[in-house]
Amino acid sequence: MAENHHSNIFPPAESVKNEAYVKSMEQYSEMYQKSISDPEGFWSKIAEQFYWESGTTGKFLDYNFDVRNGPIYIKWMEGAKTNLCYNAVDRHVANNLGDRVAFYWEGNSLDDDGQITFNELKERVCKFANVLKSLGVVKGDRVAIYMPMIIDITVAMLACARLGIIHSIVFGGFSVESLSERLIGAQCSVLVTADGVWRGTKLLNLKDIVDNAVLKCEAAGHTVEHVIVCRHLLPSDEVVVGEGEEEPRPAVRPCRQLRIKWHAPRDKWWHELVEGASAECPPVWLDAEDPLFMLYTSGSTGKPKGVLHTQAGYMLYSSTTFKYDFDYHPDDIFWCTADVGWITGHTYVTYGPLLNAATSVMFEGVPTYPDPGRFWRIVEKYKVSKFYTAPTAIRSLMGFGDEHVVKYNRDSLKVIATVGEPINPEAWLWYYNVVGNKKCTVVDTFWQTETGGHVISPLPGATPTKPGSATFPFFGVVPVILNEDGTEVQGDGEGYIVFKQPWPGIMRTVYGNQQRFETTYFKKFPGYYTTGDGGRRDKDGYIWVTGRIDDMVNVSAHLLSTAEIESALVEHKAVTEAAVVSHPHRIKGECTYCFVTLKQGFTFTADLLHELRAQVRTKIGPFASPDFIQEAPGLPKTRSGKIMRRVLRKIAVGDKDIGDVSTMADETVVDKLFQLRPADA
Ligand code: WT7
Repeated sequence: MAENHHSNIFPPAESVKNEAYVKSMEQYSEMYQKSISDPEGFWSKIAEQFYWESGTTGKFLDYNFDVRNGPIYIKWMEGAKTNLCYNAVDRHVANNLGDRVAFYWEGNSLDDDGQITFNELKERVCKFANVLKSLGVVKGDRVAIYMPMIIDITVAMLACARLGIIHSIVFGGFSVESLSERLIGAQCSVLVTADGVWRGTKLLNLKDIVDNAVLKCEAAGHTVEHVIVCRHLLPSDEVVVGEGEEEPRPAVRPCRQLRIKWHAPRDKWWHELVEGASAECPPVWLDAEDPLFMLYTSGSTGKPKGVLHTQAGYMLYSSTTFKYDFDYHPDDIFWCTADVGWITGHTYVTYGPLLNAATSVMFEGVPTYPDPGRFWRIVEKYKVSKFYTAPTAIRSLMGFGDEHVVKYNRDSLKVIATVGEPINPEAWLWYYNVVGNKKCTVVDTFWQTETGGHVISPLPGATPTKPGSATFPFFGVVPVILNEDGTEVQGDGEGYIVFKQPWPGIMRTVYGNQQRFETTYFKKFPGYYTTGDGGRRDKDGYIWVTGRIDDMVNVSAHLLSTAEIESALVEHKAVTEAAVVSHPHRIKGECTYCFVTLKQGFTFTADLLHELRAQVRTKIGPFASPDFIQEAPGLPKTRSGKIMRRVLRKIAVGDKDIGDVSTMADETVVDKLFQLRPADA
């Protein structure tokens, strides 16, 4: 993609520019310079929009970014007391915005929808917070949330935030193993879930997965004391029984296939718990640097890392990036299609929009159900003006043809944005021309779970865009491109993308493992935060993120660790060694290509292949299922025994030009591997 920097430049859409907060690159540069030379001046002005129970007592910004000077730390607004839930909900109610819709909820089925106002959200959050209190959960405790895309998931998050409870959300597509690993890692004694969910035509029994995960925890010596179950699919008592039917049947969410087991007293129905709960619950005033949430992300050594974010910095950053990068105005209808279980959902479904009192759409289903026009049907239905999705979704919908897009009215759209992986110019242009009808600004936002919010992104009313480039840094962010030897690349050039100073939304540590935090992000290039991505800066100063340069694979905008997949594979009885590399994929961007060496006595059959795929699905989750698995009688290794992944990546794509192999212990394995490539690779 780096090679593909078109000379094409797209000016910001007129309609966006006219009303934008930032209308020109001159204005951006001026604000940007201030934000990096005087972070305190810049962010303290922004902080005035929020409610603070008390002001700062220490430095506004205090940090150490250099391991050579001692432990890494980042503190914003130390001593200030606030509450994120109060700022995201109560503050708007107090400002007479209580009747505004916070979320339009669109269910998986076409005829299933709902909405919630800020008033109602406040009431529901308070009741649920009182429930958590009554179970004895207090500030600093961790509560796990394993839920589908329903309004209740934001209620659960905000209730935690109200009390200073650290939420740890586990994406609903994770397996029993992954869920239990995360429950144990964060020592959660309370888990909030739902009975089940429909995703397209697939029924997911969440409660069953939870039951098994809790059992696994038990076996490992960790007790999950309370499982709170939100009734989403199972019929409620009020549902009418149709004529001649024996069982109650909900109108729009059929669930005849769903059977859940109940373990009293551990399991508790959400609706029963909130029934008697008070709708008043004073927020707990928290310190600026108290933890807000942790969210696990893949790690290159295999075990996921619990990325920890804190109160004030995340509040400033999620709300400000939301405001400027989508150029949010009060009459906008915003829609981020990401699941709340990922960081994009944390920052741009829940916190960013709510802190701005925005009205958003929350969608439970999938882009292709009941047909590939679903996204645009929803855009028309709610008159969405700011839309945010992933390149993988764009590429997939592009393949179904323009007719699914153009049959819906998309006149409301102004900003169409992407996140999660590099967007190829072809998909960018389709998004711009077809979805946006050539009159929207495309905003390619680069960021990470660790960064809390966008760090490189155009401003939709100011930045001329180039398809495939995330363009320029957000306020407060100082990106640098480094050579392998750690020297800074000036001007035009390629290398490691790192950041030189902290912005408010940067992660504070890896939960329970400061050492890993420092090793992963600050050791390779002392003095900088290392993203793990490579990229280049072109002659006009535009940044092009080219992708991971560590052992991570970005599959459909989800980061997977090759080490984690390898360890899932070697746990199978037939496998002695496994090596996983990235392979390009037309729709997913990248996919995984696995080489497995079998133990004596096992043969590589279709059944075994099936079992190995199932193994990865069970250990990690269905979204991690490998695309290619091939047999490897031997792996290319250096004389010191290190697997030569560079060579494996060549073999995976069938490229015989494998480069220098002078350090390889046994060159004959390479030919065999080429012969054994699956026919469809
Ligand atoms: C990795 C972070 C941030 C929310 C979604 C993923 C890749 C993300 C872009 C983009 C090129 C991108 C990077 C990054 N990435 N956005 N606009 N252009 N690459 O969060 O799971 O923490 O993954 O996603 O490789 O490091 P995540």
